Amino acid sequence: MQIISISSLKGGVGKTSVTLGLASAAQAQGIPTLVVDMDPHADATTGLAVRQDAGTEDVGTLLSHPRRASLPDHVVASGWPSAAAVSPADGTRESAPRRAPTVLDVVRGSSRTSLYERPTTRQRELRRLTQLLEPVTRYALVLIDCPPALNGVTRMAWAASTDVLLVAEPSLFSVAGTERTLRALDLFRREYAQGVTSTGVVANRVRPASVEHQFRLGEMERMYGDRLLPVAIPEQGNWQQIQGAAWPVHAWPGQTAAQSAALFDDLLAAIHRPLKDRRGQRRH
Ligand SMILES: Nc1ncnc2c1ncn2[C@@H]1O[C@H](COP(=O)(O)OP(=O)(O)O)[C@@H](O)[C@H]1O
Ligand SMILES: [Mg+2]
Repeated sequence: MQIISISSLKGGVGKTSVTLGLASAAQAQGIPTLVVDMDPHADATTGLAVRQDAGTEDVGTLLSHPRRASLPDHVVASGWPSAAAVSPADGTRESAPRRAPTVLDVVRGSSRTSLYERPTTRQRELRRLTQLLEPVTRYALVLIDCPPALNGVTRMAWAASTDVLLVAEPSLFSVAGTERTLRALDLFRREYAQGVTSTGVVANRVRPASVEHQFRLGEMERMYGDRLLPVAIPEQGNWQQIQGAAWPVHAWPGQTAAQSAALFDDLLAAIHRPLKDRRGQRRH
């Protein structure tokens, strides 16, 4: 099971959007996936069309008793339509072949996660999410949407992860902030997150015609080396609409959405290692 934290020091750079795009790609490709919404704002929960369900506990509550909690009893199915179930509205997209609906589940986020937003290096605190994920076996991929800070919640997510994906904009402060985050991550990995086997950076909100953005992308290549993933996500005009409708980009009609969907397929291909390649890497 591959567990990917999607993180950044800054807010608004696109962590939740990247999480949702990857979830959409995984759903379209039939990869059983769990999204864990660790951000107290719970935007991923909203974006995945999950209703506040009285029968299940949110992740903040579950983290308060990780040993007793049985996480599989508290996952909720995403409310997204499957890509295969949606027929193209304008004929631009070929219908995906019908197959059994893919598992795309969510552990709901809530403001209660902010209780853990303190800087900590105590193993007991850092291992809460690892413990919570221990009985989880049903998925090939777990995506953890993190809050915009490197405090307790993000550290807990890193400690539970096999991979960390940092999201950065091609702007001065984001590039510098990501550099600091990579350094903090390297230090943290050595001591507390030895299960993290790879780290990468994805550039988001890129405007290809912007000279400033081209300059910053060059800087990112120099600074991050091969940690900069080969997929850069451009600024997209229709994302607010797609996310506001709580739909997967793979099911949204039109050429622009199809291009975004293809980019997320490429991003997933760049970071997702199928189970067969990961023998011996399982941590639990
Ligand atoms: N590539 C993009 N193109 C257009 N809008 C984007 C893009 N990435 C993010 N956004 C928008 O920017 C806002 C912040 O993105 P979000 O994913 O919530 O960031 P974060 O989770 O890092 O705080 C959202 O309204 C989102 O729709
Ligand atoms: Mg977010």
